[in-house]
Amino acid sequence: MKIIRQKKDLVNLIKEINSLSFVPTMGGLHKGHELLIKKSLKKNKFTLVSIFVNPKQFNSKNDYKTYPKNFSKDIKILKRLKVKYLFQPNYKDIFSFKPKNKIYLHSFSRQLCGKYRPGHFRGVLNVVNRLLELIKPKHIFLGKKDFQQLILIKKHIEKKNIKTSIVACNTVRENNFLPYSTRNNNLNKKNKTLACKIFKILKNEKNTIKRKKLKKINLSIVRRKILNLGIKKIDYIEAINLKNLKKAKRFNENFNIFSAFYIDKVRLIDNF
Ligand code: PAF
Repeated sequence: MKIIRQKKDLVNLIKEINSLSFVPTMGGLHKGHELLIKKSLKKNKFTLVSIFVNPKQFNSKNDYKTYPKNFSKDIKILKRLKVKYLFQPNYKDIFSFKPKNKIYLHSFSRQLCGKYRPGHFRGVLNVVNRLLELIKPKHIFLGKKDFQQLILIKKHIEKKNIKTSIVACNTVRENNFLPYSTRNNNLNKKNKTLACKIFKILKNEKNTIKRKKLKKINLSIVRRKILNLGIKKIDYIEAINLKNLKKAKRFNENFNIFSAFYIDKVRLIDNF
């Protein structure tokens, strides 16, 4: 595997290979990333994975500092998967140039996580916009667990006419239903069990809405249930229509239940 640390080396690589597939990450690789990488490799053996923990998308210095990092494990995973190129830029290489495209932030950025993490999606798009400009990939692989991020990147790419197509990949879950997430590394065993209990309650709620054909979706009781399990902070529990991105009202809409809550200091999100 070739590790590219400098922008000029990346520029040379792009001159050589002009249709890369791209998997952007912040490291702390897990089975969810592995799926993105495997799908990318299947489409194109010239797959480039980036690892860059982007400080601009964190809401506090402490969250940035405590974000799990394990570079040696990441390298092992990437080598096992036979990834050809790893791009591991530094802050200056990413942020010292003026990108061609300005960031386009669709209004969906004001909902869900956008309400509770001011500046987060602007930070995500800032780095993704720059990575797309540098790498010019044919495809970019993104996970549906971060659905809001996925949609906002899609809207930006469409608006700016960027010639990269998005491949959206399913969420990968542990046997107990917990979605793989880098932040799970900061959960102890007891809290992991609690997290998966909560996600299962929400999954059941969605099933109930569908089964009982409820004409009015009301998530206040399930919210209370979760608070009763000792959860002190819920950012949101919302049913969102996946097509029009508005609050879903009825069972027969194509919706997912989106949630974000804290267990101790660890913020978890999911949707299904
Ligand atoms: O999903 C992530 O890991 C990050 O938000 C991304 C897309 C790599 C941008 O920093």
